[in-house]
Amino acid sequence: MITRLNFQPIETIECDALVVVEFEGQPSGRFAELTRDLYESKEFTGKAFDLALLHKPAGLKARRLLLAGGGKPEKFTAATLRNVAGTALRHLKSKSSRDIAMLLDSGFSGPEHAAAAVEGAILGDYEPDVLKSDKKDVKIVDRFTVSVPAGAAALETARQRGEIIAQSQNLARELVNEPANRLTPSVLAARARAMAAEQGLECEVLDQDRMKQLGMGSLLGVAMGSAEPPAMIVLRYRPAGQETRAAHLGLVGKGVTFDSGGLSIKPADGMEKMKYDMAGGAAMFGAMRAIALLKPAIPVTAVIPAVENMTGSRAQRPGDIVTSLSGKTIEVLNTDAEGRLILADALTYTRRLGCTHMVDAATLTGAIVVALGHLYVGLFASDEGLRSKVMAAAAAEGERMWQMPLDEDYKDYLKSAFADLPNIGGRWGGAITAATFLKEFADSTPWVHLDIAGTAWLDDAKPFLSKGPTGVAVRTLVRLATEW
Ligand code: BES
Ligand code: MN
Ligand code: ZN
Repeated sequence: MITRLNFQPIETIECDALVVVEFEGQPSGRFAELTRDLYESKEFTGKAFDLALLHKPAGLKARRLLLAGGGKPEKFTAATLRNVAGTALRHLKSKSSRDIAMLLDSGFSGPEHAAAAVEGAILGDYEPDVLKSDKKDVKIVDRFTVSVPAGAAALETARQRGEIIAQSQNLARELVNEPANRLTPSVLAARARAMAAEQGLECEVLDQDRMKQLGMGSLLGVAMGSAEPPAMIVLRYRPAGQETRAAHLGLVGKGVTFDSGGLSIKPADGMEKMKYDMAGGAAMFGAMRAIALLKPAIPVTAVIPAVENMTGSRAQRPGDIVTSLSGKTIEVLNTDAEGRLILADALTYTRRLGCTHMVDAATLTGAIVVALGHLYVGLFASDEGLRSKVMAAAAAEGERMWQMPLDEDYKDYLKSAFADLPNIGGRWGGAITAATFLKEFADSTPWVHLDIAGTAWLDDAKPFLSKGPTGVAVRTLVRLATEW
């Protein structure tokens, strides 16, 4: 699907369907006459994501007019528009429209809105069923046009930005969607090399031997149970210009390509979903693609520890004690708490690479799903400045994040009789004890941890997004870098 801007009078736009946003309450604006009966009969209410399709609309060259509810006008934001655009696109696509235009009225036709409409369409267009071989019912949208009142150059930049960000978010979704037999740690590393070569990033992959030399015992312990070798993937973006900069952003993403639980094995029911356990790594992968194209002013380094958590005969056992790259010893009380074990070494390594600030994203705990459900990312922060930057970026991108506590006192929940710390706490506050564990390895470097276990995967489709991977955190991380 290509996207483009159009400054033509809307009467003259030829397309399969023209989408217009109409609000709750009274019919208003340009289509008030046309929509009055629909509002009066309550066939269309203007509530968010409500739709009504009219054929051969009088006075337009468009073959159909789709009214798309925007909700209450005072609550309408770029985030709403993104989802409305996605809803309209998915509906029209299901009806075989291939050439779709969306009108942005003068009240919401600035750069943020133009970018959001393009993003919504591209994100809505994504389908996770690429491996089905029967392609005869596959629907394709060829073109999505954003129709705006006046020809400002800033809008073309916004369209391009929206396209880059949404395509990068979809790249993250594609990676998450790949089953674990097709996307092993080595395959993920090969994809990273290819993406880096294409977008002009540096890529380095540490193999198992190199990790042994360096002393990444915590990560390597997790990898022991799998025949698939682990990989530590490093992607670097350096802005043009020589001067040394104060800040260097590190993005660390959990890349467990499959989490069986290891010897502390998971129940069979639902285990198939654990192919998504590299969604944090995929988010960093997608964010780095967008960063390479948008070229922010600060250097950004992504570190993606990629491993498979399996039960092979060399698998680590409950009770094993490993020595992490930081030198701290860890008693592995539960092999299913593997995310924090690989992130421990990744965070230490990211600090050694000179990153001054770190953000990690990880499908880390079932407990965060208990706490926040599937709506909010759980956010933990060791530093107020970085916390507020990430929260502001998330709010601007319409990605819901909720701050969780990280008081020093939670360290009492992590006591080991035989090592510096255990890899699990007790029964309560599981998302917080996981974050508290990571904090030991982030150490004095300002750090934010995003637990995306509840938000990286949609069990049921939304009107604007298919079922499956969401690509959560990509937009927030890209904005964090570009607005630093
Ligand atoms: N990848 C899982 C987190 C997870 C669990 C996501 C369930 C979605 C649903 C993680 O590696 C894990 O297994 N965490 C354990 C930790 C526990 C053993 C302390 C969990 O949350 O159950
Ligand atoms: Mn696990
Ligand atoms: Zn896991």
